[in-house]
Amino acid sequence: MPPAKPEISTFSAFLEDPGDIEVVREAAKAINISQGEILKGGIKEAIETFSHKRTPQYLVVDISKSDLPISDLSRLLEVAEPGVGIIAVGTRNDVGLYRDLMKLGIFEYVVSPIFSEILGRALKSMIFEEDKIKGTQSKVGKLVAVAGARGGVGSTFILANLAAILSGERARRVVAVDLDLHFGTLSLYLNLKTSLGFREALENPERVDQVFVERLLTSVNDRFFVLSSEEPLDEAVKYKTNSIEIILNYLSKLCHYVLIDVPHFSNNISHHVISSANVMLLVTEASLAGLRDAGRLIQLFGSEGTGRRIIVIINKYGESPQNEIRLEDFEESLKHKIDHIIAYDSVIPKACINQGRTIVDEDVPLAKSLREIVDDMFGIRKPEEVVGGIGGFFKRLKLK
Ligand SMILES: Nc1ncnc2c1ncn2[C@@H]1O[C@H](COP(=O)(O)OP(=O)(O)O)[C@@H](O)[C@H]1O
Ligand SMILES: [Mg+2]
Repeated sequence: MPPAKPEISTFSAFLEDPGDIEVVREAAKAINISQGEILKGGIKEAIETFSHKRTPQYLVVDISKSDLPISDLSRLLEVAEPGVGIIAVGTRNDVGLYRDLMKLGIFEYVVSPIFSEILGRALKSMIFEEDKIKGTQSKVGKLVAVAGARGGVGSTFILANLAAILSGERARRVVAVDLDLHFGTLSLYLNLKTSLGFREALENPERVDQVFVERLLTSVNDRFFVLSSEEPLDEAVKYKTNSIEIILNYLSKLCHYVLIDVPHFSNNISHHVISSANVMLLVTEASLAGLRDAGRLIQLFGSEGTGRRIIVIINKYGESPQNEIRLEDFEESLKHKIDHIIAYDSVIPKACINQGRTIVDEDVPLAKSLREIVDDMFGIRKPEEVVGGIGGFFKRLKLK
């Protein structure tokens, strides 16, 4: 039996005006929302609150005291869960503002003092016509496929640590999915129990809904979740091809980043993940085999362009120089830039894995390299001297 959907949705409101507070309280009561809280305040308080705690499904937020409502709401959307429905309340009645709010993915704008009928209608349609929210929601989490060109290049280790940095240092909500249900090592590296039910979800996608997916997650902390499994080796998983699409769809409404550990075997599921990802982090080594398999994964990903990107990472650089190709030659043959190079480190990765921990808030070169990848995923450009890739890497080595 699939778990039943909860009848009541979670709801919060941040309002400045006591009259508006009363109207919202009545309207929420009228449509049977009991799991809600209405607080005095506005957009600033909402941002502050949801930087630390989970957002409700629906939010009413006052922007009347904000000088820059659009940029404040963008910040709120940054910290909020991607699927949240928002009604903004303000004193300005202007079409330009309204249009900008809609573009941002705000569900509705209501002018203060609020008329209860107008608010009631907006709330109802936001809550009961969920599809409308999906239509207006410009924000869903990014799908990041982390693919190792070869087994052992360090893709799972890198994924676990990027997820830890994203959630720990950058306050993003992250879910990491290990698609190798038999030999996956993600939960081992994070010292976690595997999730029960992931296999069932992949075999019977018709049973899956938002609540089902949320129950599958194991949490590292309140912003970092994991979906993994440890299936008996003598039992094959009978994946339904559309299952992963359904699961990822739910996960992307829950978290800012869905990082997927793509297994080293090829099946419909891994194809789907690679060809539908927004970003593929392609982890490889500077060897001939690493070059060949990186090239094949780039082909599978297809073309880069708006909203789709490949980030090539050479890991363990310097581990065995006799087998490493010159990086300029590597790039030329691959016909793709090497975006990041992570040096071989004989101490930290081993220690982390043995202790089941990740690198967060540490000031070591490995952490710096990982942070640069996170910045790259965010689209932050670095000053010339610390730019990733070959140039930056060698410049850093010289500085040491
Ligand atoms: N930069 C690095 N330097 C040294 N060892 C590394 C580095 N990155 C990863 N490793 C080690 O490589 C091994 C394989 O990593 P893993 O992430 O399981 O590979 P994959 O998932 O690509 O098969 C692990 O023991 C890990 O400690
Ligand atoms: Mg792995």
